[in-house]
Amino acid sequence: MNYRHHYHAGNFADVLKHAVLVRLVRAMQRKERGFRYVDTHAGRGRYDLASAARGDTLERKPEWPEGIGRLWNRAALPEVLADYVAQVKAFDQKLGNLESTPRFYPGSPRLVEALARPQDRLSLFEKQPEEAEALRLEFAFSLGVGIQSTDGYSGLKGQLPAPEKRALVLIDPPFETKDEFAQVVASVDAALRRAPASTIAIWYPLTERARVDAFFENLTALALPPTFALELTVVGPAHEMKMKGSGLVVINPPWQIDRELEPAAVSLAEVLAQDQGGRAELRWLVKEA
Ligand SMILES: C[S@@+](CC[C@H](N)C(=O)[O-])C[C@H]1O[C@@H](n2cnc3c(N)ncnc32)[C@H](O)[C@@H]1O
Repeated sequence: MNYRHHYHAGNFADVLKHAVLVRLVRAMQRKERGFRYVDTHAGRGRYDLASAARGDTLERKPEWPEGIGRLWNRAALPEVLADYVAQVKAFDQKLGNLESTPRFYPGSPRLVEALARPQDRLSLFEKQPEEAEALRLEFAFSLGVGIQSTDGYSGLKGQLPAPEKRALVLIDPPFETKDEFAQVVASVDAALRRAPASTIAIWYPLTERARVDAFFENLTALALPPTFALELTVVGPAHEMKMKGSGLVVINPPWQIDRELEPAAVSLAEVLAQDQGGRAELRWLVKEA
């Protein structure tokens, strides 16, 4: 397992994923009752963008300038994006960055924890030992946050049904192995059997259209509750970039969240486009009744 999110933190895919995540948390919090947030692939919780180009063995071009970097000083963003950028800025400033460019970028666990109310709980899974250790340190003084350095797919099963009776799940794997899509489908199947009303967001990369379409087919074969896919591409299909875009499948989306997410994603595609291919679309895989 070589994946380190470090290189990718704050890139165009993180921007879409995290903007949607913030919105999902806000929607869960429309109800007073607490909820359980399960992050099956949590990462380290915090990324230092100043060292994003330095890796264990390779020097790489940082990806955040074409992601959060493009939103940082932009005025008049739609509310969904402005809210997300405000969360990232608050985190960055809290850690002491005084520069006009971002430095400290919050991973999904940090974004959720910052919004969590006393009645909300976080269960975080991170299998890679060094990342898990960093995550433990990150949350050493936080209440209501459980961390396990084990496989997130099997971990998820054990979390459902949640004691809070409401769950928001993020499945955000590295997609390093060919069977990752199949593992996601199996994990969603098991999760929905245990807690059918869970809201589950699954991040996926768009490298090949056919693979994503096969994933959708396998998912919908589970007889899903209402589900949509929100997808954003930054380059056209013929572009040399391997990951041309990314998306989030949202199972049991909060009521009418599609109405705010789709226009926000369309605006985001304009900001993040790297050639003529910038485009965003929300497609219902299983329509609401
Ligand atoms: C895309 S990153 C997660 C980023 C994080 N969710 C965020 O948004 O900030 C994927 C993470 O999953 C971890 N990982 C890989 N396989 C795993 C597994 N089976 N269970 C739990 N974590 C895993 C990797 O070490 C990596 O840190």
